[in-house]
Amino acid sequence: MKPHFVLFAALYAAFAAGPVFAQQTALRDAAAPRALLMGAAADSNEFGEPDRLQEPDYAATLGTQYSMLEPENAMKWATIHPEQNTYDFGPGDNLVAFAQAHGMKVRGHNLLWYSFNPAWLTTLAQTATPAQMAQVLEDHINTVVGHYKGKVFAWDVVNEAISDSATGTGTGSDIRDSIWYNQPGIGTTGDGFIEQAFRWAHAADPNALLFYNDYNIEQPGAKFNAVYNMVKDLLSRGTPINGVGIQMHIPMSGYPSSDGLAQVIQQFGALGLQVHITEMDVRLAVDSNGQASAADLQTQAQTYQRILTVCLQNPACTAFQTWGFTDKYSWIPGSYPGQGAALPFDANYQPKPAVAAMLDALENTPPSINTAGIVNAASYKGGAVSPGEIVTLFQVNYGPSALTVAQPQNGQFPDNIGGAQVFFGSTPAPLIYAEAGVVSAVAPFEIAGSQQVSVYYKYNSLQSATVTLPVAPSAPAIFAANSTGSGAGAILNQDNSLNSADNPVPADGQHVIQVFGTGGGMLATTPSDGSLAAPGLNDTTQDVTATIGGKDATVTYHGAAPGLISGLLQVNVQVPAGLAPGPQPLVITVGGVPSQDGITVAVE
Ligand code: XIL
Repeated sequence: MKPHFVLFAALYAAFAAGPVFAQQTALRDAAAPRALLMGAAADSNEFGEPDRLQEPDYAATLGTQYSMLEPENAMKWATIHPEQNTYDFGPGDNLVAFAQAHGMKVRGHNLLWYSFNPAWLTTLAQTATPAQMAQVLEDHINTVVGHYKGKVFAWDVVNEAISDSATGTGTGSDIRDSIWYNQPGIGTTGDGFIEQAFRWAHAADPNALLFYNDYNIEQPGAKFNAVYNMVKDLLSRGTPINGVGIQMHIPMSGYPSSDGLAQVIQQFGALGLQVHITEMDVRLAVDSNGQASAADLQTQAQTYQRILTVCLQNPACTAFQTWGFTDKYSWIPGSYPGQGAALPFDANYQPKPAVAAMLDALENTPPSINTAGIVNAASYKGGAVSPGEIVTLFQVNYGPSALTVAQPQNGQFPDNIGGAQVFFGSTPAPLIYAEAGVVSAVAPFEIAGSQQVSVYYKYNSLQSATVTLPVAPSAPAIFAANSTGSGAGAILNQDNSLNSADNPVPADGQHVIQVFGTGGGMLATTPSDGSLAAPGLNDTTQDVTATIGGKDATVTYHGAAPGLISGLLQVNVQVPAGLAPGPQPLVITVGGVPSQDGITVAVE
């Protein structure tokens, strides 16, 4: 367990035990157990304006309510690259420092846009060759992403590249005219300039998540189709794109429909992409003082709640951000005359009805469960589940904010960790750990003999839908030493030391290793769920064989791991003579089903 988790848990416990004030929960605290980032766009001192971060109410609201910020203007071309040979990182650095001081993530915005370009660049584009434009863009991406490497966790690499009159193909005239596409462009065709921008950004910071961001794609239609087809095309060429940002600048009510938005998120998610809601605001008619009616503020609150709820219902939606947070600073009145009051906090930083509505969505939307997210804890592979198999449920979407690891009491693992529970049929499963979006559980032994089992997840009083999983007699996998599902196995040498490249096992036909996995199925004596395995041997009922480096290896024991949680599989294997030194592939087979590829044992 990482120390900061312990610290946070202790602080949180102290806070929770303290006196109760009439203060609303902070949005970020309600979003943390949902594994959702709660973001707001923010500005510092761009273009010589007074630094908003020095305004106490601005800083206090931003720093306590949000877990993510995005520079509204500080990292755009015109701000950060005002002259050809001049970068101004000041405002962006201020925002990054503020975020770091307040435990917030930073979303970068943006690296390529048709708009907000500095005068020198638009002038240059009138005479430059595509090759020169490519060089300018590569240098810019390299410099900006490089400057913020490790500090900006996600970038809008490309902003608003699809035309408002797109027909849906996502290529040709569906792509908006710009200096980067065709005026003069960077010497590519179709979405090639977009692919190239993603590749340059990835090279500059391989760990940053890279997004395409656009508006009017929050419901099915021609523009959504264009973006969908374009990102699909980018993915087909191996472009390093991780997600799509849906801006969500919307009017008061009815739009987009919940079903339409759910479909859009589902379709991007099915491509393996994340979705961030990046720029939500809900504009209202306002009077000359910028005031909206009480009724409109209620309708607005319902819209915020509805959109956030749809985001929470799909695990692909991993961040929810508004374009600013206080009506004191919002682009809406300037861009939509007669409209405003679009954000969750009013111009005096008081929460509007939207804040309570967002809290309602965060606290009361049931958790999700997802068949594809339920995997063997050792291999991370899905499919059938076997009795006693240790599984990990990803994408449960609601759980303890901090990683909470079970402590067995009187030799028994709990079936509730901090309010999280997993049920197979109606039986609560023993749990190993739980954290906002992830929980690890042991399938009850009583599922043996069933064809299938229904599974649901519960957090406090909120219950997920039920999914059905096939049941198999065995579903073996070997734990990796570093818990990644592949590489060096969780293997002890004969002297009980961890097998590793530095501590290999001799291949002389005399040495036995202990291999740890799960999915071995039933045991001669059925253990009680969640118990620590009794001392002494308890064999799997099915035959177990093993190979190392492709050679048959004698199995000397296969069964429970004494003293460890029931469901953990221990297989003792005699290492055959004559293996080449180095990592050798290790496979165990239980009842004819092999463990995953890619696990190795280090041989001397
Ligand atoms: C807007 C900012 O809010 C304004 O302050 C600025 O003058 C212009 O840009 N879509 C986007 C954002 O991706 O970058 C835009 O931000 C709003 C629309």
